[in-house]
Amino acid sequence: MSGTSLDGVDAVLAEIGSAGRIRILHTRYLPYSDRLRSQLLALHTPQPDEIHLAACAANTLAHLYAEAVSGLLERIDPATIHAIGCHGQTLRHRPADGYTLQIGNAALLAELTGITVVADFRSRDIAAGGQGAPLVPAFHAQTLHHPEIHRVIANIGGIANITDLPANGSVRGWDTGPGNMLLDSWIDRHRGVRYDRDGAWATSGTAHAGLLAALADHPYLQSPAPKSAGREQFNLAWLDNLLTRLGYAIEPADVQATLLEFTARSLADAVSRECAGAQEFYVCGGGAHNGALMQRIGARLPNLRVATTSALGIDPDWVEALAFAWLARQALHHEPGNLPAVTGASGPRVLGAIYPA
Ligand SMILES: Nc1ncnc2c1ncn2[C@@H]1O[C@H](COP(=O)(O)OP(=O)(O)O)[C@@H](O)[C@H]1O
Ligand SMILES: [Mg+2]
Repeated sequence: MSGTSLDGVDAVLAEIGSAGRIRILHTRYLPYSDRLRSQLLALHTPQPDEIHLAACAANTLAHLYAEAVSGLLERIDPATIHAIGCHGQTLRHRPADGYTLQIGNAALLAELTGITVVADFRSRDIAAGGQGAPLVPAFHAQTLHHPEIHRVIANIGGIANITDLPANGSVRGWDTGPGNMLLDSWIDRHRGVRYDRDGAWATSGTAHAGLLAALADHPYLQSPAPKSAGREQFNLAWLDNLLTRLGYAIEPADVQATLLEFTARSLADAVSRECAGAQEFYVCGGGAHNGALMQRIGARLPNLRVATTSALGIDPDWVEALAFAWLARQALHHEPGNLPAVTGASGPRVLGAIYPA
C-alpha cells in the first residue's frame, strides 16, 4: 500500500484462511526518498512531459515495491505466495471524469518478483458508475464487525475515510475529507519536515476561528455520500486562497492548530451526524499516531469509546495494506471487492487486473 500521504510503502505478508480469517506474518515499511516523494507530488498537477515522467516514476515504484516484497520473504519461498495486491500510487482521482490513476508498473513488479500481481483495484468500480473509493470498508466489515456493538472505523491516511458498521444493518462508508494531508503539507512548507509528530507543533498554536469557519465551508464536507476525495479537493493552493481571501496574518503554528482542529472536526462531525447510535470508534492509518488529533476527535465524540484498532488486535499501521491483500484474494477467487452501497457502483464487481507470475 502506498497512499495519498506520499510517505512510503507499507507491505504485509498475510495469510488468509478459508473462513476469511487473516493473520499478519511479516511487515515492512520503506519510506519514499525525498526525491521520489517530490517527483510524485509534482505529478499530481499537470506539467510538461508528464506521461513520460509518470511512466518512469511507475518503474521506480515497481522496484521499491519489489524491494519491500523481498524484505518480507527473507526466509520464505516466493513460490508459496499466491499474489501481491498492489494499490499503486494515486496521481489523479477523478471519478466524475470516469477515471482514477494509480501508477506502479504491475507488469514490472510481477517480472521482478516472479509473483502474481493484482493491481488497478479502483478502475472497475468507476467503470460501474462508482467512486472507486473507499475500498477498505468491505475489509473492515469482514474483519471488524461486531454482532452486538455498533462500531465505526476510521482510516486516517492522507485522506480520512470511515466505515459505519452497525451491529445489524448495512455497511456504509465514504471519505470524510482531509486526514494527514493538510497537516503534512503545511509543516513541510514551514519547517521542512514530513509530518507534525504527535501534533506537537499544532498544539503549540491556537486554532483561528475565522480560518476554521472558512475551511469548514468546503462544499465537499456537506455533500452526500457516495463520495471520495484526494489532493484535488484538499491542498495548499486551496488553503493559500482562503488565507489570502481572509486577509489576516495568521502565525504558521496557529494555521497548523486550525488545520488539526479542522481535520478532527470534519471526521468526528461526520460520525455524529451520520452514524447515529454508534458506540465505538476505532482509528487506523498513520493519523492514529497523532495524539493531539486523536484527543480532538475524542473530545468531539464524548459518547463513543475512541481508540485505535490496536484495541481490536490489529496494528493501525497495517490495516490498509492488509485490506489490499484481502482484495487481491477476492480477485483471485473471482469474488467482489467493492460494496456498491459505499462506492455507488451499479453492482458488486471483481476488482483488479491480474498479472500472472
Ligand atoms: N507519530 C506521528 N505523529 C503524527 N502523525 C503521524 C505520526 N506517524 C505517522 N503520522 C502520519 O501518518 C501519515 C502516514 O499515514 P498513512 O496511513 O501511511 O497514510 P497514506 O495511506 O495516505 O499513505 C504520515 O504522513 C503522517 O502524517
Ligand atoms: Mg502511507
